[in-house]
Amino acid sequence: MPNHQHAAAQRTTLAHRPGAGGTTLRAAGPPIVTTQEMPSAVPLMALSTGFWAFKTLAAAHEEDLFTHLADGADTTIAELAEALGLHPRPAEMLLTGCAALGLLEKRDGRYRNTPLSEAFLVRGKPYYFGGFVEMADKRLYAGWGRLAEALHTNRPTTWDPTAQSSMFEGEDPTMLATFWEAMHSLSAMTARRLGEAVDLCHFHRLLDIGGGSGAYDIELCKMYGELRATVFDLPHVAAIAAGKIAEAGLAERIETAVGSFFEQIPGGHDLHLLSMILHDWEEAKNRALLRRSFEALPSGGAIVISELLVNDEKTGPAPAALMSLNMLIETEGRNYASAEYSAWLKEAGFRNIETVWFDAPAANGAVIGRKP
Ligand SMILES: C[S@@+](CC[C@H](N)C(=O)[O-])C[C@H]1O[C@@H](n2cnc3c(N)ncnc32)[C@H](O)[C@@H]1O
Repeated sequence: MPNHQHAAAQRTTLAHRPGAGGTTLRAAGPPIVTTQEMPSAVPLMALSTGFWAFKTLAAAHEEDLFTHLADGADTTIAELAEALGLHPRPAEMLLTGCAALGLLEKRDGRYRNTPLSEAFLVRGKPYYFGGFVEMADKRLYAGWGRLAEALHTNRPTTWDPTAQSSMFEGEDPTMLATFWEAMHSLSAMTARRLGEAVDLCHFHRLLDIGGGSGAYDIELCKMYGELRATVFDLPHVAAIAAGKIAEAGLAERIETAVGSFFEQIPGGHDLHLLSMILHDWEEAKNRALLRRSFEALPSGGAIVISELLVNDEKTGPAPAALMSLNMLIETEGRNYASAEYSAWLKEAGFRNIETVWFDAPAANGAVIGRKP
């Protein structure tokens, strides 16, 4: 501990024990409230500056720092300044900041990627997470800047609810370029965790309802050799999924189907997946959607709801609770609890309902129901 911090800690102790050597910080006047009687304000500093950490990550990613350092490459401050065309002062700050956040490590005077940044922040890697970093920076950050407004209006801030009926409507080029890439980043690793936590080997045909980029279908088909899948989504999204499926070399096993899940759900599948769908919508629409899924499934079929589940007491956990606030600025939905989903599944006719917990960026569990 630095000397001045040590000294401050000692002074606090002396004030708390006036008898010890007869020393107090103040001889008279109101009693001193010592730091031992108060909670520390340090967590508030961490909360207040959370966006400093995020913006450091976002700027480093925008500068392609982690891709620059891919595959064991390393750099000094001067070399990075030269390579990125930066003044050495901000180059030093960026490298120091990234090292402090666990995104870089320093050995022998040179900075290099940590296992975390190497696995997830290098462009082209299979579980590249940069798409989500970019969306958080370019889309969500501004929307969260108006969070207090959303609390009062109960309306999203990332798009104009008077001009369109949901964030998914239309073909806004920025949205097309960032949103589904971000979902793919978020979902690829989550799909793998789901496929490990839930045994899907008895199912043959997966319908990924609102399947987006097809990340779940790609990962689950890689994990389960007998599985075939359909990504069911809006017409302008199916093209994005088809590109990802072709890239993964799985066009023979994964197809796309277009339509609205508010109108109909295609038949011919024994497993339905709803990943990050129900948190987009209000309760009545979700309950109707679950009834539609029940009708479309054969007897013996199952539904899997994968989400960041809020606990039944509504006190956390933080990733789910904050995703719920993210739904305030983006949608009409919220992050629901396992008990809520279980009740809706039961009402729709599903039985043997259970929740399986796991740890992933886009889900902490899956609520599963079977059609008798
Ligand atoms: C939050 S994203 C989730 C994507 C994917 N399930 C995942 O977890 O990566 C929601 C998806 O629902 C799709 N969607 C929204 N409204 C829809 C509708 N009425 N019918 C079908 N898909 C819809 C969107 O296009 C988007 O791909």
